[in-house]
Amino acid sequence: MLKEKKQRRPRKMIIANWKMNPMTEKEAKDILNVLKRKIIKIFGAETFVCPPALYFATLKKSYSGKKISFGLQDVFYEERGSYTGEISVEQAKDFGAKLVIVGHSERRALGETNDIVSKKLKAVLKNNIKAVLCVGERERDEHGEYLLFLREEIRASLSGIQKSMIDNLIIAYEPIWAIGKNYKMSISARELEEVIIFIKKVLSEIYGKDEVQMVPIIYGGSVEEKNAEELAGVPLVDGFLVGHESLKPNSFITIALALSSRKK
Ligand code: PGA
Repeated sequence: MLKEKKQRRPRKMIIANWKMNPMTEKEAKDILNVLKRKIIKIFGAETFVCPPALYFATLKKSYSGKKISFGLQDVFYEERGSYTGEISVEQAKDFGAKLVIVGHSERRALGETNDIVSKKLKAVLKNNIKAVLCVGERERDEHGEYLLFLREEIRASLSGIQKSMIDNLIIAYEPIWAIGKNYKMSISARELEEVIIFIKKVLSEIYGKDEVQMVPIIYGGSVEEKNAEELAGVPLVDGFLVGHESLKPNSFITIALALSSRKK
Protein backbone atom coordinates (compact mmCIF):
# COMPACT_ATOMS: atom_id res chain seq x y z
CA MET A 1 0.00 0.00 0.00
CA LEU A 2 1.21 3.51 -0.80
CA LYS A 3 2.19 5.51 2.22
CA GLU A 4 0.31 8.79 2.56
CA LYS A 5 2.62 11.72 1.76
CA LYS A 6 3.57 13.76 4.78
CA GLN A 7 2.16 17.27 4.50
CA ARG A 8 4.98 19.79 4.32
CA ARG A 9 4.44 23.22 5.79
CA PRO A 10 6.22 26.51 5.17
CA ARG A 11 8.05 28.26 7.98
CA LYS A 12 5.88 30.79 9.80
CA MET A 13 6.44 34.46 9.12
CA ILE A 14 5.52 37.85 10.42
CA ILE A 15 5.75 40.97 8.29
CA ALA A 16 5.60 44.55 9.54
CA ASN A 17 3.96 46.90 7.06
CA TRP A 18 4.73 50.36 8.36
CA LYS A 19 2.86 52.01 5.47
CA MET A 20 3.61 55.78 5.31
CA ASN A 21 4.81 55.86 8.93
CA PRO A 22 6.54 57.02 11.07
CA MET A 23 7.11 60.68 10.25
CA THR A 24 10.85 60.86 10.94
CA GLU A 25 13.89 58.70 10.47
CA LYS A 26 14.61 59.02 14.17
CA GLU A 27 11.26 57.47 15.08
CA ALA A 28 11.89 54.70 12.55
CA LYS A 29 15.23 53.95 14.18
CA ASP A 30 13.64 53.97 17.62
CA ILE A 31 11.07 51.35 16.60
CA LEU A 32 13.74 49.17 15.06
CA ASN A 33 15.96 49.51 18.13
CA VAL A 34 13.27 48.02 20.35
CA LEU A 35 12.74 45.21 17.86
CA LYS A 36 16.47 44.55 17.68
CA ARG A 37 16.72 44.28 21.44
CA LYS A 38 13.77 41.93 21.82
CA ILE A 39 13.71 39.92 18.63
CA ILE A 40 16.16 37.42 20.00
CA LYS A 41 13.29 35.89 21.95
CA ILE A 42 11.29 35.00 18.87
CA PHE A 43 11.83 31.45 17.84
CA GLY A 44 10.66 29.96 14.65
CA ALA A 45 8.95 32.82 12.87
CA GLU A 46 10.81 34.68 10.13
CA THR A 47 10.52 38.42 10.67
CA PHE A 48 10.38 41.07 7.95
CA VAL A 49 10.14 44.82 8.35
CA CYS A 50 8.84 46.88 5.42
CA PRO A 51 9.49 50.55 6.21
CA PRO A 52 8.89 53.45 3.82
CA ALA A 53 11.51 53.16 1.05
CA LEU A 54 13.25 56.34 2.25
CA TYR A 55 14.24 54.70 5.54
CA PHE A 56 15.17 51.35 4.05
CA ALA A 57 18.92 51.84 3.60
CA THR A 58 19.55 53.42 7.01
CA LEU A 59 17.58 50.79 8.88
CA LYS A 60 19.10 47.93 6.97
CA LYS A 61 22.63 49.25 7.60
CA SER A 62 21.96 49.62 11.30
CA TYR A 63 21.15 45.94 11.73
CA SER A 64 23.70 43.22 11.14
CA GLY A 65 21.82 40.34 12.79
CA LYS A 66 19.97 37.55 11.07
CA LYS A 67 16.61 37.67 12.86
CA ILE A 68 15.13 40.55 10.89
CA SER A 69 15.04 40.92 7.13
CA PHE A 70 13.92 44.02 5.29
CA GLY A 71 11.42 44.46 2.52
CA LEU A 72 9.60 47.11 0.54
CA GLN A 73 5.91 47.96 0.36
CA ASP A 74 5.89 48.24 -3.42
CA VAL A 75 8.16 48.27 -6.48
CA PHE A 76 7.81 49.04 -10.16
CA TYR A 77 7.91 46.29 -12.78
CA GLU A 78 10.33 47.86 -15.25
CA GLU A 79 14.03 47.34 -14.70
CA ARG A 80 15.37 50.85 -15.34
CA GLY A 81 14.71 54.06 -17.21
CA SER A 82 12.38 57.02 -17.38
CA TYR A 83 9.85 56.20 -14.69
CA THR A 84 9.80 59.20 -12.41
CA GLY A 85 9.27 58.34 -8.79
CA GLU A 86 9.52 54.58 -9.20
CA ILE A 87 11.92 52.02 -7.71
CA SER A 88 12.81 48.86 -9.61
CA VAL A 89 13.19 45.37 -8.18
CA GLU A 90 16.80 45.37 -9.32
CA GLN A 91 17.46 48.52 -7.27
CA ALA A 92 15.64 47.04 -4.28
CA LYS A 93 17.74 43.89 -4.58
CA ASP A 94 20.95 45.89 -4.72
CA PHE A 95 19.98 47.42 -1.37
CA GLY A 96 19.32 44.00 0.11
CA ALA A 97 15.53 43.79 0.01
CA LYS A 98 14.42 40.25 0.72
CA LEU A 99 10.71 40.72 0.24
CA VAL A 100 8.24 43.00 -1.52
CA ILE A 101 4.55 43.54 -0.79
CA VAL A 102 2.61 43.57 -4.06
CA GLY A 103 -0.96 44.64 -4.72
CA HIS A 104 -1.85 45.93 -1.28
CA SER A 105 -5.47 47.10 -1.25
CA GLU A 106 -4.33 50.64 -0.46
CA ARG A 107 -2.35 50.63 -3.73
CA ARG A 108 -5.20 49.00 -5.60
CA ALA A 109 -7.44 51.81 -4.29
CA LEU A 110 -5.05 54.27 -5.98
CA GLY A 111 -5.57 52.58 -9.32
CA GLU A 112 -3.33 49.52 -9.32
CA THR A 113 -5.06 46.89 -11.45
CA ASN A 114 -4.66 43.11 -11.43
CA ASP A 115 -2.69 43.52 -14.63
CA ILE A 116 -0.17 45.85 -12.98
CA VAL A 117 -0.05 43.57 -9.93
CA SER A 118 0.80 40.55 -12.07
CA LYS A 119 3.60 42.47 -13.84
CA LYS A 120 5.05 43.50 -10.49
CA LEU A 121 4.79 39.96 -9.14
CA LYS A 122 6.60 38.63 -12.18
CA ALA A 123 9.39 41.19 -11.79
CA VAL A 124 9.87 40.35 -8.09
CA LEU A 125 9.74 36.58 -8.49
CA LYS A 126 12.12 36.66 -11.46
CA ASN A 127 14.66 38.28 -9.13
CA ASN A 128 14.40 35.60 -6.48
CA ILE A 129 12.87 37.91 -3.91
CA LYS A 130 9.85 36.94 -1.84
CA ALA A 131 6.65 38.47 -3.19
CA VAL A 132 3.68 38.94 -0.89
CA LEU A 133 0.56 39.06 -3.05
CA CYS A 134 -2.24 40.83 -1.16
CA VAL A 135 -5.81 39.86 -1.95
CA GLY A 136 -9.09 40.46 -0.17
CA GLU A 137 -12.68 41.47 -0.65
CA ARG A 138 -14.09 44.89 0.19
CA GLU A 139 -17.09 43.42 2.00
CA ARG A 140 -18.79 40.15 2.70
CA ASP A 141 -22.23 39.05 1.55
CA GLU A 142 -24.37 36.16 2.66
CA HIS A 143 -24.45 34.55 -0.79
CA GLY A 144 -20.71 34.07 -0.95
CA GLU A 145 -20.19 36.47 -3.87
CA TYR A 146 -17.02 37.63 -2.14
CA LEU A 147 -15.48 34.24 -2.77
CA LEU A 148 -16.02 34.65 -6.50
CA PHE A 149 -14.36 38.05 -6.27
CA LEU A 150 -11.46 36.54 -4.38
CA ARG A 151 -11.02 33.71 -6.85
CA GLU A 152 -10.96 36.18 -9.75
CA GLU A 153 -8.55 38.53 -7.99
CA ILE A 154 -6.14 35.67 -7.25
CA ARG A 155 -6.36 34.24 -10.76
CA ALA A 156 -5.91 37.61 -12.47
CA SER A 157 -3.06 38.71 -10.19
CA LEU A 158 -1.24 35.43 -10.87
CA SER A 159 -1.79 35.52 -14.60
CA GLY A 160 1.49 34.79 -16.33
CA ILE A 161 3.12 33.47 -13.15
CA GLN A 162 4.33 30.00 -14.01
CA LYS A 163 4.50 27.08 -11.61
CA SER A 164 8.29 27.28 -11.77
CA MET A 165 8.15 30.80 -10.29
CA ILE A 166 6.10 30.22 -7.14
CA ASP A 167 8.88 29.19 -4.77
CA ASN A 168 9.03 32.73 -3.39
CA LEU A 169 5.32 33.47 -3.55
CA ILE A 170 3.36 34.30 -0.40
CA ILE A 171 -0.36 35.05 -0.35
CA ALA A 172 -1.60 37.59 2.17
CA TYR A 173 -5.33 37.44 2.69
CA GLU A 174 -6.30 40.94 3.73
CA PRO A 175 -10.03 41.60 3.71
CA ILE A 176 -10.43 45.34 3.22
CA TRP A 177 -13.24 45.50 5.77
CA ALA A 178 -10.83 44.38 8.49
CA ILE A 179 -7.85 46.62 7.69
CA GLY A 180 -6.95 49.50 9.97
CA LYS A 181 -9.70 48.79 12.51
CA ASN A 182 -9.23 47.00 15.83
CA TYR A 183 -9.21 43.42 17.02
CA LYS A 184 -12.95 43.45 17.68
CA MET A 185 -13.63 44.21 14.05
CA SER A 186 -11.09 41.77 12.70
CA ILE A 187 -11.83 38.36 11.26
CA SER A 188 -12.78 35.40 13.47
CA ALA A 189 -10.69 32.25 13.59
CA ARG A 190 -13.48 30.27 11.94
CA GLU A 191 -13.91 32.74 9.08
CA LEU A 192 -10.16 32.80 8.55
CA GLU A 193 -9.89 29.05 8.43
CA GLU A 194 -12.67 28.80 5.84
CA VAL A 195 -11.17 31.39 3.58
CA ILE A 196 -7.68 29.91 3.74
CA ILE A 197 -9.10 26.55 2.68
CA PHE A 198 -10.78 28.36 -0.20
CA ILE A 199 -7.56 30.14 -1.23
CA LYS A 200 -5.66 26.85 -1.15
CA LYS A 201 -8.30 25.37 -3.43
CA VAL A 202 -7.99 28.24 -5.90
CA LEU A 203 -4.19 27.95 -5.90
CA SER A 204 -4.44 24.18 -6.39
CA GLU A 205 -6.70 24.71 -9.40
CA ILE A 206 -4.00 26.89 -10.96
CA TYR A 207 -0.80 25.09 -9.99
CA GLY A 208 -1.75 21.66 -8.66
CA LYS A 209 -2.22 20.46 -5.10
CA ASP A 210 1.32 19.33 -4.38
CA GLU A 211 2.90 22.45 -5.82
CA VAL A 212 1.01 24.84 -3.57
CA GLN A 213 1.68 23.07 -0.28
CA MET A 214 4.70 25.26 0.33
CA VAL A 215 3.06 28.57 -0.64
CA PRO A 216 2.55 30.35 2.70
CA ILE A 217 -0.84 31.89 3.29
CA ILE A 218 -0.75 34.67 5.83
CA TYR A 219 -3.41 37.00 7.22
CA GLY A 220 -3.53 40.76 7.61
CA GLY A 221 -6.26 43.06 8.91
CA SER A 222 -6.23 44.39 12.48
CA VAL A 223 -4.05 41.71 13.98
CA GLU A 224 -3.41 43.03 17.46
CA GLU A 225 -2.12 41.67 20.75
CA LYS A 226 -5.65 40.74 21.78
CA ASN A 227 -6.54 38.51 18.82
CA ALA A 228 -3.08 37.25 17.87
CA GLU A 229 -3.34 34.01 19.86
CA GLU A 230 -6.76 33.17 18.47
CA LEU A 231 -5.77 33.82 14.86
CA ALA A 232 -2.39 32.13 15.25
CA GLY A 233 -4.31 29.06 16.39
CA VAL A 234 -5.98 28.68 13.00
CA PRO A 235 -4.42 25.44 11.75
CA LEU A 236 -3.60 26.63 8.24
CA VAL A 237 -2.41 30.17 8.87
CA ASP A 238 1.31 30.60 8.11
CA GLY A 239 1.78 34.07 9.52
CA PHE A 240 0.63 37.67 9.73
CA LEU A 241 1.02 40.91 7.83
CA VAL A 242 0.72 43.54 10.53
CA GLY A 243 -0.04 47.19 9.88
CA HIS A 244 -0.75 49.64 12.71
CA GLU A 245 0.41 47.36 15.53
CA SER A 246 3.79 46.94 13.86
CA LEU A 247 4.56 50.56 14.74
CA LYS A 248 4.35 49.56 18.40
CA PRO A 249 7.34 47.26 18.66
CA ASN A 250 6.29 45.65 21.94
CA SER A 251 2.89 44.72 20.53
CA PHE A 252 4.52 43.45 17.37
CA ILE A 253 6.78 41.19 19.42
CA THR A 254 3.79 39.84 21.36
CA ILE A 255 2.01 39.06 18.09
CA ALA A 256 5.11 37.35 16.72
CA LEU A 257 5.39 35.28 19.88
CA ALA A 258 1.79 34.12 19.58
CA LEU A 259 2.64 32.88 16.15
CA SER A 260 5.88 31.22 16.95
CA SER A 261 4.60 29.45 20.03
CA ARG A 262 1.85 27.69 18.10
CA LYS A 263 1.80 24.03 18.82
CA LYS A 264 0.75 21.87 15.91
P1 PGA B 1 -3.66 46.76 9.85
O1 PGA B 1 -3.03 46.75 8.38
O2 PGA B 1 -2.91 45.74 10.64
O3 PGA B 1 -3.44 48.16 10.31
O4 PGA B 1 -5.10 46.41 9.70
C1 PGA B 1 -2.70 45.56 7.73
C2 PGA B 1 -2.28 45.88 6.33
O5 PGA B 1 -2.92 46.74 5.70
O6 PGA B 1 -1.31 45.30 5.81
